[in-house]
Amino acid sequence: MNILILGAGGREHTIAWKLKQSKTPTQLFVAPGNAGTAALATNLALSVTDFRAIKQAAIAHEIQMLVVGPEDPLVHGIHDFFLADPALKDIPVIGPQKAAAALEGSKDFAKQFLTRHQIPTAAYQAFTAENVEAGYAFLDSLKAPYVLKADGLAAGKGVLILEDLDQAKTELKNMLLGAKFGAASSRVVIEEFLDGIELSCFVLTDGKNYKVLPTAKDYKRIGAGDTGLNTGGMGAISPVPFADATFMEKIHSRVIEPTIKGLAKDGLPYKGFIFIGLIKVGEEPYVIEYNVRLGDPETEVVLPRLQTDLVALFKAVAEEQLDSVSLEIDPRTATTVMSVAGGYPEAYEKGHEIQGLDHDTDSLLFHAGTTLKEGKVCTNGGRVLAVTSFGADYRAALATSYKTLEGISFKDIYYRKDLGFDLN
Ligand code: AMP
Ligand code: GLY
Repeated sequence: MNILILGAGGREHTIAWKLKQSKTPTQLFVAPGNAGTAALATNLALSVTDFRAIKQAAIAHEIQMLVVGPEDPLVHGIHDFFLADPALKDIPVIGPQKAAAALEGSKDFAKQFLTRHQIPTAAYQAFTAENVEAGYAFLDSLKAPYVLKADGLAAGKGVLILEDLDQAKTELKNMLLGAKFGAASSRVVIEEFLDGIELSCFVLTDGKNYKVLPTAKDYKRIGAGDTGLNTGGMGAISPVPFADATFMEKIHSRVIEPTIKGLAKDGLPYKGFIFIGLIKVGEEPYVIEYNVRLGDPETEVVLPRLQTDLVALFKAVAEEQLDSVSLEIDPRTATTVMSVAGGYPEAYEKGHEIQGLDHDTDSLLFHAGTTLKEGKVCTNGGRVLAVTSFGADYRAALATSYKTLEGISFKDIYYRKDLGFDLN
């Protein structure tokens, strides 16, 4: 089976690695891919939002399934584009159609969906340039800290959490009137701050049936103890130890069930992954956000724990027969530690050779920002390499990842050494 995966990160390398293990023989293509995917697949040098080039590649390589890694092509309607094209319409796409992808593409749309289906989430209101004064008044009515979210996609940077009321008002003005995040902040959601511990839950749905994948927790800040700037994700742990059976049952009945039913009720076509960002406040789950794809680096711990054939799962999604498949999950804990280029998430260098990739290791090495230069694997992004390991618990798994990382080097390598610090 010929499968095209869109994306270039650790998530896409992990998806390719998992698809390659299927008992269905596959020929994989990744666009644009990285040095890791090049070892399993044919990389195609094209942009994930260049739909015309993707169409040409799909035809040229006789693609029989499209798996979409990142949100951008989904929010811009890649699934609808395939359905509308006579030459592409029979190729199943893993990833929702545009109307449903708005769950990630618009925070206001997601909050309206959550409210309409009575799914627990922070109280909120949305504002535009026309009613910025009402936004100031809403901020006056809230207690610190203040949570401001650009409505549209802002590459993970569109959320501000501020302690000071005046600063919150200034930032609201910058977003609405000063286009701080471009068109993405022409509408801003202001919401109540929720104090708790975060976790993510992953669901695969065919629009009717669904399967719940393992939970995971990622570490977004660059510095030890969750300090410093936000990143794409510095590591992840699965399962989340504090998500016990009672809490998981609340997530099922209060969040997952109403989400799947809500999609059907609202006529939002969905075949793909739903990534539900949750926060545990006391003993209760609240939804912070929906993403319409898998997380990165969460994928690097969730998919290695999945023992079910991923090609079979994706086929079942395409045929709306997910109820006929059962999930097998590895009971061990998986952790991934992301090594990054020094300076990231601010300015950093690229193009440095990565040493130690050929060492014997007990870990799985998933490439994020890497590329091949004259046959050598070199850094090509801020997040470079995710090192995934298994263990009886997260401490044991992390110890293996850290040991593996001792044997890997590139110029100015950095990784967090305190993952799991908040789980004690
Ligand atoms: P989002 O892009 O919506 O996931 O927000 C980014 C991050 O901001 C989340 O991962 C949380 O750490 C934090 N956050 C978002 N909304 C809230 C909230 N209502 N209360 C507390 N923290 C929040
Ligand atoms: N790790 C967070 C994300 O993929 O959005």
